[in-house]
Amino acid sequence: MKKEYLSLLACPRCRGDLEIVRIRHTDGHRIESGDLVCRGCGAIYEIVRFIPRFVPIDNYATSFGLEWSKHRKTQYDTYTGLTLSEQRFFEETKWDRDLRGERILEVGSGAGRFTEQAARTGALVVSMDFSDAVDVNYEMNGHRGNVFVVQGDIYTMPFKRMIFDNLFCMGVLQHTPDPFRAFMSLLPCVRDGGNIVIDVYKRTIDVYLSLKYYVRRFTKNMTPERLYRLTRKYVDFMWPFCSLMRRIPKIGRMINWAVLVADHSNRGLKGEILKEWAYLDTFDMLSPKYDHPQTLRTVNRWFLKAGLHDIEVQYGYNGIEGRGRVIRSVDHRGGVVS
Ligand SMILES: C[S@@+](CC[C@H](N)C(=O)[O-])C[C@H]1O[C@@H](n2cnc3c(N)ncnc32)[C@H](O)[C@@H]1O
Repeated sequence: MKKEYLSLLACPRCRGDLEIVRIRHTDGHRIESGDLVCRGCGAIYEIVRFIPRFVPIDNYATSFGLEWSKHRKTQYDTYTGLTLSEQRFFEETKWDRDLRGERILEVGSGAGRFTEQAARTGALVVSMDFSDAVDVNYEMNGHRGNVFVVQGDIYTMPFKRMIFDNLFCMGVLQHTPDPFRAFMSLLPCVRDGGNIVIDVYKRTIDVYLSLKYYVRRFTKNMTPERLYRLTRKYVDFMWPFCSLMRRIPKIGRMINWAVLVADHSNRGLKGEILKEWAYLDTFDMLSPKYDHPQTLRTVNRWFLKAGLHDIEVQYGYNGIEGRGRVIRSVDHRGGVVS
């Protein structure tokens, strides 16, 4: 991390200011390894491989660490030659393409396909994930002068309050133990007038009919390495059948998803890249410890309870997408009520 980024961080336990107390290695511009200490409670946080770490190594998101280490580039536009991540990012956030001078917080970055898109706006992008996917994101985007990668937990954000102009959290909330609490944890980081964009899986009747939720009961408890090996074997075995099914207009792809092979052929993906997406997303269906899809009504209620303004909640890319603006009211003593 660059020294100047210290001013963005706060102790996730007591919200105290942090100080750099040891620098073990630097490359001249960035601290590669060292220690941060909290001036308030004395907690120590390590900087490892250029990334400040605010979470225990072993946490519920280890399957994501494996997923993104196996599929570092799979969903990057620069790899697929398509514009899937770009389109989703800008259509979902509705943000300008030029955000120079602003700060964006990304929560739950995975391998960083959206970090790349956010960085292209010229804003400073602080990109956080719970899992060690942060190492993959650093490898892919850490070279950019406007990207700061942090390993942290949505429930205990390691950032100062109200310092971000824009926040996005895509494909994450359903994978946390308590999605509403996770959503509410996003708010304090955003400045008055700032924007929040989230998406979350949708819950409909299909959820109760879907084989995925029955199979997950077993697979989510397997070690990620074993499940990943089994997933690849399963996709390889099913691939000839799925390729045939795909030829049936309209329902062919649905059949493939129903038999638990992620089929993204409608997005213009072909050949080996299409199969890589199948490995990735089939594993992604079966491995996460938590998978809590939400209804449109529930997500609307979250936004209202959070007191957000200019709310837009609708069906979209990943199920349900929601946008809102933080407007804080001031109490009679002039204090900010969030
Ligand atoms: C399905 S991936 C989505 C990654 C990325 N946003 C994308 O769409 O490509 C979900 C990500 O959320 C992260 N995540 C899960 N729980 C989290 C938490 N408590 N705090 C921060 N990130 C979390 C996981 O580690 C994982 O990388």
